[in-house]
Amino acid sequence: MTIPKFQKLILNWSMENRRDMPWRNTHDPYKILVSEVMLQQTQVARVLLKYKEFLKEFPTLQSLARASDKKLLFVWAGLGYWKRALSLKKTAQIIARNYQGKFPKEPTLLTKLPGIGPYTAGAVACFAFGHQEAFLDTNIRRVYLYFFFPPSTSSGQTSKKVSDKEILAIAQKALISLPNHGTVLIQPIITPREWHYALLDYGAVALKDKRINKQSQHYKKQSKFTNSFRSFRAQVLHFLLQEPKQTATINKIEKLLTKVKSPYKSKEILLALTKDGLVKKKGTSYSI
Ligand code: ADE
Repeated sequence: MTIPKFQKLILNWSMENRRDMPWRNTHDPYKILVSEVMLQQTQVARVLLKYKEFLKEFPTLQSLARASDKKLLFVWAGLGYWKRALSLKKTAQIIARNYQGKFPKEPTLLTKLPGIGPYTAGAVACFAFGHQEAFLDTNIRRVYLYFFFPPSTSSGQTSKKVSDKEILAIAQKALISLPNHGTVLIQPIITPREWHYALLDYGAVALKDKRINKQSQHYKKQSKFTNSFRSFRAQVLHFLLQEPKQTATINKIEKLLTKVKSPYKSKEILLALTKDGLVKKKGTSYSI
């Protein structure tokens, strides 16, 4: 596959299949960051249900920086991976304090902030500021693997795992050679933002059922949530959120865990939640 052919295929597909999402209609880096952090480990359909509510409660970076953990976790409930919410708030505080409320535009600076990895940094820099640097998430990686790294067909030979560095080299070439100059009348201008939306959509929709990412060095099997340690942690958090003063004694938490047949001890669960800064110990009680 050549890069020009690849670009044409993705862009033609996108003309018919582009997904509209509320965070694609803004250039506000705060709103884009909120969506990207939510989308890190949660499906689009679930994020769509929460995004508006979250922004109604915390419409600005400053409002999130000032939020209480209690309020924040109430609003976050339903999205899972709660630590993300606390990291998002810490990032808002750092930007408010150290950057006078103005987002850094460079991915290298963004990755220094809590909870922001290379994908989220690349996405915020691109979607909010038009930064011309390729970045990968599961869906974009799947697209490049599918078109540029087909599994080896020679018998007996196992395919070598592909690194993100190899994929990014091609992704960057494709990005910088998009029709972004020349006569607008002949070719529409494709922004880095629209190009990455097209890649995200193609990977998520057109290649939905293809198990391509196993070819990647960065492939990780998603662990099951039901009956996992994470699921019992979530039950304790939900329980605390609806208790008076968001506080419960260890005894009460133990009773809850017995009732829901947790194979994990209250001690381990509470230790993990405390380590992540999600709950605090107060004598013989725990609170949010
Ligand atoms: N559009 C913008 N960011 C996205 C993401 N992380 N996943 C899917 N679509 C998106």
